[in-house]
Amino acid sequence: MKNRRVLVLPGDNIGPEIIAEAVKVLDRVNDNFELNIDLEYGDLGGAAIDATGEPCPEATVIKAKAADAILLGAVGGPKWDGIERHLRPEKGLLNIRSALDLFGNLRPAIMYPQLAHASSLKAEFVSGLDILIVRELVGGIYFGEPRGIRTLNNGEREGFNTYKYAESEIRRIARMAFEAAMVRDKRLCSVDKSNVLEATILWREIVEQISLEYPEVELSHMYVDNAAMQLVKEPKQFDVIVTGNMFGDILSDTAAMLTGSIGMLPSASLDKNGVGMYEPCHGSAPDIAGEGVANPLATILSVAMMLRYSLNAPSAADAIESAVSSVLDDGLRTGDIFTEGMTKVGTVDMGNAVVRAL
Ligand code: IPM
Ligand code: MG
Repeated sequence: MKNRRVLVLPGDNIGPEIIAEAVKVLDRVNDNFELNIDLEYGDLGGAAIDATGEPCPEATVIKAKAADAILLGAVGGPKWDGIERHLRPEKGLLNIRSALDLFGNLRPAIMYPQLAHASSLKAEFVSGLDILIVRELVGGIYFGEPRGIRTLNNGEREGFNTYKYAESEIRRIARMAFEAAMVRDKRLCSVDKSNVLEATILWREIVEQISLEYPEVELSHMYVDNAAMQLVKEPKQFDVIVTGNMFGDILSDTAAMLTGSIGMLPSASLDKNGVGMYEPCHGSAPDIAGEGVANPLATILSVAMMLRYSLNAPSAADAIESAVSSVLDDGLRTGDIFTEGMTKVGTVDMGNAVVRAL
């Protein structure tokens, strides 16, 4: 089998800690399943600023374009807060998403039965929860121009951004969401704010058009404020949610918390050919960096998504997901998902336990 290249971007704060565990897991399945995966490393975010002065160096983009998949830890932290806006670590993440045209961000929120009691909602509302959020990732207000902070004639400053979506941008993300719904429960909820925002009036219209290509999928629409409420009121009503960049950012954190911890949630960001970048949904957690307590499971589960979506190794992906489930069965918990009676472990012990289960 031809060698496959995975670019690993550990990033900042807890990034390198959780990536180290995910790489152990990847190495193990690489051996067990003879996947011929070669790893390469690069810098992104604060780590890249420290090394090169830029959050997303050209060298990283070149390596990323040559890779079959990218595994990312997390970027950012107070160390780089003082830096100019366009050189901040988060900009590195946004730049690489955009440079690779990773428009489709899949964020599954799946309730592990073992964690039903770690959720902030009562178990009856979340047991069996399985939602997929499909977030548009390279457009909308995150990237819209013009943007900036300008000084008005009266001397007062004004911050401004542009929320816009072209038809082609809406079409491709809608298709990705309908395709995802087709292999699930065939229900898609498109989230917008079309009672106020023109960009999302067009969004709704185009999603309606694309739905004609998928007659088997039941399409519904929801305003984003209601969607936020419904997610915490009756989350199991959702199967697949499709939405723009900013609403997806917000709703995916909400959905994450329903499952017990954002420390459990992986994500995939895909281009039109299925090349992708895989990262945990959580941030770089500067408050716990270096303490060895971060939950590596979201990153480990991101490796599983990578094997499934970009590296055509579904059995290895299944094996990782089963291994994670079995360490949870064994009662191992990092602090974020710890409940009475379980065994509290740190980042490295959790990673080692998953490797052993493989
Ligand atoms: C996410 C993060 C990023 C985003 C930040 C770090 C730029 O919150 O991946 O959800 O807003 O997209
Ligand atoms: Mg976010």
